Amino acid sequence: MTEFQYDTLLKPENICNLTREKIFLEKAILAHEKVVIYGRRNSGKTSLVKNAIIPWFETKNKKSFVLFVDLMEVKDVVSIHERIRVGFERAFSKYFPAKSLLKAAMEMVGSFRPMVNLDELTGAPQLSLEISKQRTISFVDIFSIIVKKISLTHQVLIVLDEFQDVALVSEAQGLFRQVFQEFEAGALIIMGSKQHMLADLFAKPKAPLARFGKDLNFGFLPYEEYHRYIEERLHPRKLTIDFKVCTELQDLLFRDPEAINIVCQNLQALGTVKKISSEMVRLQIDLTIEARSSRFEQYLSQFSSREQELLVALSKYGPIQMPSGKDFLQQVHVTARSVQVSFKKFLDHSVIEKRESGYQILDPLFYYFLKKYR
Ligand SMILES: Nc1ncnc2c1ncn2[C@@H]1O[C@H](COP(=O)(O)OP(=O)(O)OP(=O)(O)O)[C@@H](O)[C@H]1O
Ligand SMILES: [Mg+2]
Repeated sequence: MTEFQYDTLLKPENICNLTREKIFLEKAILAHEKVVIYGRRNSGKTSLVKNAIIPWFETKNKKSFVLFVDLMEVKDVVSIHERIRVGFERAFSKYFPAKSLLKAAMEMVGSFRPMVNLDELTGAPQLSLEISKQRTISFVDIFSIIVKKISLTHQVLIVLDEFQDVALVSEAQGLFRQVFQEFEAGALIIMGSKQHMLADLFAKPKAPLARFGKDLNFGFLPYEEYHRYIEERLHPRKLTIDFKVCTELQDLLFRDPEAINIVCQNLQALGTVKKISSEMVRLQIDLTIEARSSRFEQYLSQFSSREQELLVALSKYGPIQMPSGKDFLQQVHVTARSVQVSFKKFLDHSVIEKRESGYQILDPLFYYFLKKYR
């Protein structure tokens, strides 16, 4: 069933557009290429890869092995080793037959003393590799097993999501450079949502992972496509929205698909109205932030009072071209230096983003919340 989804990965039938991106990725995977996916927040990167590309890859190949690891907020190299090991254990348990899991594991990863236990929730056999305080299993070893053993019998795809957080762990970068260079046995997809941090790793000439594979950029969804998508979902409720109002809705919500889906889902509830007007869109955004205000309060409370002041000022006076310039500093009780530090933190945590027009709060609903309630 088609619907407006949010707070979750999209089912394939609810992914608007992205056909060009899908074709690009399928081709690259078949050619065993390496791809870096750059993209805005909430542009459907993880949904497309996890719910459309990986299932396509699994049906296409008789024997496949997909290692998917989310590196969100990894703090040090040990936690990267751990994430990749756990991802590997899960992939192994999924792609090797349950009946002979231990036998396959002994053959492929015997030196890591594999064990098989039943998963507490699902009852499915689950591989685990022995680790102890003295011994962590390096992701270099995991990659080596995939290259030297698994790829001999299986088609391999490796996906590392939220990879930019590796930028904060310099020790890991050399290791990744090494394993990426040696990885020819399958396709590799690297993606993330903090574009400036990914660029630090891949795009600058002297970046640690420069000249790595191909780039794929997820931009804004075209207005027309999104209009069609919205109309299709409003139609069963006998609602329509014309192109002009729909474009205004997308712009008001900074063209952020997740926020658009949230507001459209609420608009759907207006079952008795026929044609959605501009006023109704604005009212609905207002009602949406009101309904979500306690979660925004909670979110805001994790910032220091100085940071809160900056966010509020940014919502009132933004977009801001020069955060440490005179004009903005006049509006806040903060020094230029701490504005710089705070803005860097906001950028690194996707609280704000830099657009052509200047720095702005990233989440449109949070932006309207700050404007209205602060
Ligand atoms: N192509 C799309 N069509 C419709 N909705 C979308 C699309 N892309 C993203 N969304 C909305 O954004 C939400 C997040 O999608 P997803 O997690 O796949 O994006 P992402 O690019 O991986 O985000 P992040 O940058 O946070 O990792 C979805 O739940 C949905 O509400
Ligand atoms: Mg994602």
